[in-house]
Amino acid sequence: MIQLPESWFEGRLPELPTVADCATALREDAPRLRAITSREPARDLEAGLFAALDGEAGHAVVGYPAEVPATVAATLLAAWLGMPAEGVHDDVGGTVSHVVSGVGHRHDQAWHTDSTPWLLPNRYSVLGLLSAPGPQPEATGVLPIRRLHTALLDDPEALAALRGEALPWRVNFPHLPQLWGAILDPAVPRWVRPAVDPLRDRMSPALARGVLRLEAALAGAVPWYEPATAPGRLVMFDNHRVMHRGPLLEQDSGRELIRIKIGGRAVR
Ligand SMILES: [Fe+2]
Repeated sequence: MIQLPESWFEGRLPELPTVADCATALREDAPRLRAITSREPARDLEAGLFAALDGEAGHAVVGYPAEVPATVAATLLAAWLGMPAEGVHDDVGGTVSHVVSGVGHRHDQAWHTDSTPWLLPNRYSVLGLLSAPGPQPEATGVLPIRRLHTALLDDPEALAALRGEALPWRVNFPHLPQLWGAILDPAVPRWVRPAVDPLRDRMSPALARGVLRLEAALAGAVPWYEPATAPGRLVMFDNHRVMHRGPLLEQDSGRELIRIKIGGRAVR
């Protein structure tokens, strides 16, 4: 497993008891966070993390001392990745979130990409565990989008429509200018089923067929990874290269995460 450098956790750690404190620190205390993450060159982290993110798997599991709060580990990783103070915002879901599994967006438990209404969806998502229902870590499903392209190769017309036929992603955000993009856009894919369902009668026959084929592939025909965040373990994935889903849990399960979105642009 890739490890955050030990030197980050020597000396006094930033006090970040809540997720809101993490957002404040990234916004207002960036020089101090950077001072911590530049105590030594993080060559192993740099090489290992990006080899994993840029490789076929499109995600990485990143270790840190298990006694350190996940808020601190996730915030230091975001700072090291160069998250700018102005990159921390609350627009369209925001960048730093306290996620309670099973609450609110139940579509989080189905395959999706994050931030589909953003002008440019966040490049990376970092997940850390705040509390868990039991000792067994619950996995996040991670499915490389490249595998979906491959699964659809026997219907080139449908695949071309998925790659090139633009859909509107801000139907539920009438205060924002409309935003058009293709589901399997080669650079910035977007998929979240509740946003696509109401658009089915506007799709070309090829795209409608492509969406059905995509759903069939997502329903089990294409294998996926199951990394789990746990005490001492962050999960980070490339939101432009994989789809993901949370574990199937009820809202009283007690699983809570910190999620930090890195890169991308929400509305401006
Ligand atoms: Fe998500």
